[in-house]
Amino acid sequence: SRKIIIDTDPGQDDAVAILLTLASPEELDVLGIVAVAGNVGLHHNANNARKIVALAGRTDIPVYAGCSRPIRRALVTAEHVHGVTGLDGPDLPEPTVPLQEQHGVDYIIDTLMAAEPGTITLCTLGPLTNIAMALIKQPAIAERIAEIVMMGGAYFEVGNITPAAEFNIYVDPEAADIVLRCGAPITMLPLDVTHQIQSTPDRLAAMLAIGNDSAKAAHAMLTFSETFDLAKYGWTGAPLHDPTVIAWLLCPELFSGRQCNVEIEVASELTMGMTVVDYWHVTHRDRNVNFIRNGDADGFYALLFDRLARLP
Ligand code: BDR
Ligand code: CA
Repeated sequence: SRKIIIDTDPGQDDAVAILLTLASPEELDVLGIVAVAGNVGLHHNANNARKIVALAGRTDIPVYAGCSRPIRRALVTAEHVHGVTGLDGPDLPEPTVPLQEQHGVDYIIDTLMAAEPGTITLCTLGPLTNIAMALIKQPAIAERIAEIVMMGGAYFEVGNITPAAEFNIYVDPEAADIVLRCGAPITMLPLDVTHQIQSTPDRLAAMLAIGNDSAKAAHAMLTFSETFDLAKYGWTGAPLHDPTVIAWLLCPELFSGRQCNVEIEVASELTMGMTVVDYWHVTHRDRNVNFIRNGDADGFYALLFDRLARLP
């Protein structure tokens, strides 16, 4: 199975991504989960990660706290989508799993440096602060990363926090810039895909009908966060973002994309955090990203439901 570290700011959709991962131990071996500031503050995000491993019956997975703010900017959060705790919706018990003492950035560095090069994949579901800080503190990790698979960015679907920028990139554009230039293989699951993977009322009903505690909690989470998204977009379903990272690892045939140059705007206030994708190869810039453009929503939800049914 593939060894992964999940870097995340849970977040209802992050939580569903973590549940999908923990339901797939044959394919994915989760070494650790590292929280980052994003949807809400670091304390809540780390607390939520600890609640989710307990929900999935996987208290053996260590949870770390990483950076509490972006590299250069004040933290922008999204309580308006995710609620005050970042995981409003289900009634989950306070976590008993301890938070690890080591800083999440040092955990990422030490784990990559101790492992055989090319054996650990980083899955990022939030702002890229922890990964960028790890690359700054120990540049030698870059060539040891098997792959970075990230939810973030947008090109044809442009922005969801500003007209030009996707939230995870916008929160820490300097971090995203550092990560995209690091030289490791990168796959990006942007809004272009996640806007296709909509949680419609039928799909949410099917999730609830699975009937176990994890699926019921996932249903309550998405019901909470999608209220905001449905009002915003006026679609029949809300986008589901972060679980696409895990679905891509499990079933890449559900997705299609192409190798492109992707760079981040870090200077203009108007378009700060924009992901500039050379989709038509009009430059000779380095094709640093496998940019995913389309996803099979029915196939995705069939996978998600099949896996959630395996959890407690
Ligand atoms: C991203 O922003 C967060 O609110 C979600 O968890 C997801 O990672 C989508 O833009
Ligand atoms: Ca997230």
